[in-house]
Amino acid sequence: MSEPLTTALANLPELLKKDLDQPLCVCNQVIKLDIIKAIVAGANTLEQVQQQTSASDGNGCCRRQVESLLNHLCERESADAND
Ligand code: FES
Repeated sequence: MSEPLTTALANLPELLKKDLDQPLCVCNQVIKLDIIKAIVAGANTLEQVQQQTSASDGNGCCRRQVESLLNHLCERESADAND
């Protein structure tokens, strides 16, 4: 696992660290870890996550969960940048 990914995972709330190997997007069978990897690699909007992983590309039922990951991971990155 890459260091940025390890750091990102370490900083997530416990609730969001659960079931990393399970589909977060059930419609398209995209596991949570793949979504986190896309965000860590630079996808910082819902649209970019959709393009890179197909998550939330179905009827959008997992959108809030993807947004929650984006909020936590992108906030953390900008907080780190300001240190
Ligand atoms: S679970 Fe992701 S679009 Fe339905």
